[in-house]
Amino acid sequence: MKQKKYSVVICGGGSTYTPDMMELLCMLQKSFPLKKVVLYDVDEDRQKIVGDYGHIMFQEYYEGLEYYYTTDKESAFKDMDFAFVQIRAGGMDQRNNDEKIPYRYNTIGQETCGPGGLAYGIRSVIQMVELIKDIRAYAKDAWIINYSNPAAIVAEATKRVFPNDKKIINICDMPTSVLDAYLPLIGLKRSDIQPVYFGLNHLGWFTRLINRKSGYDHMPDLLKYIQDHYEELHQQFQDKITGENDHWGITFLNHLEMMRDFPYSLPNTYNLYYLYPNKSFSHYSLERTRYDEVIEGRETTVFNYCKKVTELGKMKGTEYDLSYRINPNNHATTDDIESKTVYADNDVHAAYLVELVLSIINNAQDFGLVMVKNNGICTNLDNEMMLEVSCLIGTNEIMPLQVGEVPTFEKGLLENQYACEKLLVDAVFEHDDLKLLQAFTENRIVRDVEVAKQLIAEFKKVNKDYWPQFK
Ligand code: NAD
Ligand code: G6P
Ligand code: MN
Repeated sequence: MKQKKYSVVICGGGSTYTPDMMELLCMLQKSFPLKKVVLYDVDEDRQKIVGDYGHIMFQEYYEGLEYYYTTDKESAFKDMDFAFVQIRAGGMDQRNNDEKIPYRYNTIGQETCGPGGLAYGIRSVIQMVELIKDIRAYAKDAWIINYSNPAAIVAEATKRVFPNDKKIINICDMPTSVLDAYLPLIGLKRSDIQPVYFGLNHLGWFTRLINRKSGYDHMPDLLKYIQDHYEELHQQFQDKITGENDHWGITFLNHLEMMRDFPYSLPNTYNLYYLYPNKSFSHYSLERTRYDEVIEGRETTVFNYCKKVTELGKMKGTEYDLSYRINPNNHATTDDIESKTVYADNDVHAAYLVELVLSIINNAQDFGLVMVKNNGICTNLDNEMMLEVSCLIGTNEIMPLQVGEVPTFEKGLLENQYACEKLLVDAVFEHDDLKLLQAFTENRIVRDVEVAKQLIAEFKKVNKDYWPQFK
């Protein structure tokens, strides 16, 4: 039987993660055969940098593929099978505001957690809803796999606007990165296990690591290993930190320290912002936040790389040759794509999304961590919550794994954060100023009504048309 060839649009074509994603598509051309790849963005100039690079890479490494980049919706979405979405509503300039404004009020300025994440959430809800409607106008059956942040807030909004659309999946790569960081300590890799995880996006915990073959739960062994080797691991994590700008190195060291305080589960790194606000706050300042590091680091590296290849006009036979990684005849599996990709500092990003796709097209029932409506997964949490949990991924169904009762500490944190996110989405759809104030106040990182009011006033000034008019 002839294998089906798929069409993919990458929304947010100018994203710093797109080159990695395109490289992975080349690597997997046997397992995930493609007819067409299109990049779509609202920023023509930004997308051109990545788009021109894509022309060279696909021409040299993907025979017969149709490829172009565009800002036109119809040519981007028509008849697509998959839309991979990684847009940043408002771009990096607004991320700078999201992170810097909170520092003026002595609160954490972070991309997705705290007041900056709420400001970003308002922009994202509006742009994601519009984007999904546009995609659906031209590709009613496409799988829409979304990375755009703040994913918890986006998921709460898409659940409400598209309640019957089973092909919108919101995902995050962080829990997967945590697994990849810790499983090797006990000689395991991700494909060996089926984890149990629960939370809202960027606030969650792994509680079990079930062996796919034997059913054995490896979590107690991992937790014991971490506590027994704590000093040694701490030193190893510290030694790996490459300098004061090594955001992820420092994050994982803090994460390890969090596991000493709460030794009974494997948490998400983002829990740090809620549980250790002082330490998180002191890492950055009004002058310098993670935004500056990303601009100087990932964005500069990725864009310079793309520009150099475009100047050269070729990759094969140059220092940028990817022949050692891309073998068009290799039938790659998920184990192959767990290995590192070349440029991004977050290696699992593209791999994790494509793993989900492979499980969908092959009806493989592999696990994926995705956001789904609670509906009894966590028996003592609101059934409307969009929980991030472990699911079996197939062609026709996404089947969440049952979690059961959530302990009091985690329940309290989640209910508080859900109230905040729910109020924010209410505020956007109802244009309700009071709910906006309640959302900011409910957030653990803000807390104080007067601070919330000042933050909202400042964010309103810089978000102008990105935000609705609140009444
Ligand atoms: P980026 O700013 O480098 O790229 C985003 C691109 O989206 C830009 O080229 C921008 O012009 C474009 N864009 C903005 N609004 C758009 C719209 N309405 N339609 C189409 N394109 C639009 O950002 P990045 O660092 O590459 O991250 C991209 C997104 O993915 C962000 O939302 C980020 O938070 C998210 N992300 C999520 C995860 C996760 O785990 N869920 C991981 C990494 C990145
Ligand atoms: C992790 C998170 C994402 C976040 C990303 C990039 O992968 O899961 O949600 O957007 O990190 O963060 P950075 O600060 O490097 O742009
Ligand atoms: Mn994330």
